[in-house]
Amino acid sequence: SKKLLVDVDCGVDDAQAIMLALAAPNVQLLGITCVHGNTSVENVCKNSLRVLQACNKLEIPVFKGADRPLLGDSIDAGHFHGEDGLGDAPDSNAPTLDLLQEQEAVSAMIRIVNENAGEVSLVATGPLTNLALAVRLDPSLPSKLRGLYIMGGNTESRGNTTVCGEFNFTADPEAAYIVLKDYQCPTYLACWEFTCYNKLSWDFCEAWLAQDSHKARFMETIFRHSIQASKSERFEKECVAGTGFISCDSYAMAAAVDDSFIIESDCYPVSVELTGSHTRGMMVVDKLGFLKKSHTAFIMKKVDMEKFKQMMMAALK
Ligand code: BDR
Ligand code: CA
Repeated sequence: SKKLLVDVDCGVDDAQAIMLALAAPNVQLLGITCVHGNTSVENVCKNSLRVLQACNKLEIPVFKGADRPLLGDSIDAGHFHGEDGLGDAPDSNAPTLDLLQEQEAVSAMIRIVNENAGEVSLVATGPLTNLALAVRLDPSLPSKLRGLYIMGGNTESRGNTTVCGEFNFTADPEAAYIVLKDYQCPTYLACWEFTCYNKLSWDFCEAWLAQDSHKARFMETIFRHSIQASKSERFEKECVAGTGFISCDSYAMAAAVDDSFIIESDCYPVSVELTGSHTRGMMVVDKLGFLKKSHTAFIMKKVDMEKFKQMMMAALK
């Protein structure tokens, strides 16, 4: 079976991605490490536990990680995911933080990857702060990964957070820079524009939520807020190519779960802008080799959307 470790800032699409992985056959989720991002890291921990509870998988360990970026203050995405990160639809039976592991996320990440060297893939769906700290403590960490799957960055300098910046990279540009500096394992990127070009139609979302299951009811509750936000005029302008929902993080997860999900990628070295007054946090694609990097990343271009819809459907069964 495939071993996965996921690093999340558990908002609504992170929740969808986790549920996709939990429903996939032959996938073993070794743990969830939490990072600041869509909401505070405490909320991210609570949300991850709530998702596990909804799927009857509370035995999977959850670890608390960085509460802010390497430099500066954290930003959040409460306008989209709800202030609590899961649609502001609290559940009085939600698990408490007592269920968190004692070990913090960065040490846990290093331990789990080393215990499963060469076998585990890391899926990162939030700002890359935890992973950057882990790489600083154990520089060989990426070389022990089977693959690194990241939702983040952009390819057409189209931002969803700043003029040019995608949320996860803009929320901690230095961390993204460190992680993408010398990737020593196959690295796959689900970038913002790609996810925009592959929206799930509202018809699909309706059928998805109409499934008769506890998981579908849970999703319906936490999802309402982002459906509303997605249908706002401003958001529709922000994300190119038609209407529908963008479950950004689920593309990175689907790629980690199923090797045949990616049909076509662009292979280029990438980096992250750290200093531009308009462009800080923007991903830079080095098409002509100016950066003299020896490694390229796989930038997802075409994926199997039929497979994606099947995996999403299964997530709420
Ligand atoms: C990313 O930002 C977050 O709000 C989402 O969860 C996703 O990881 C998209 O830019
Ligand atoms: Ca996320």
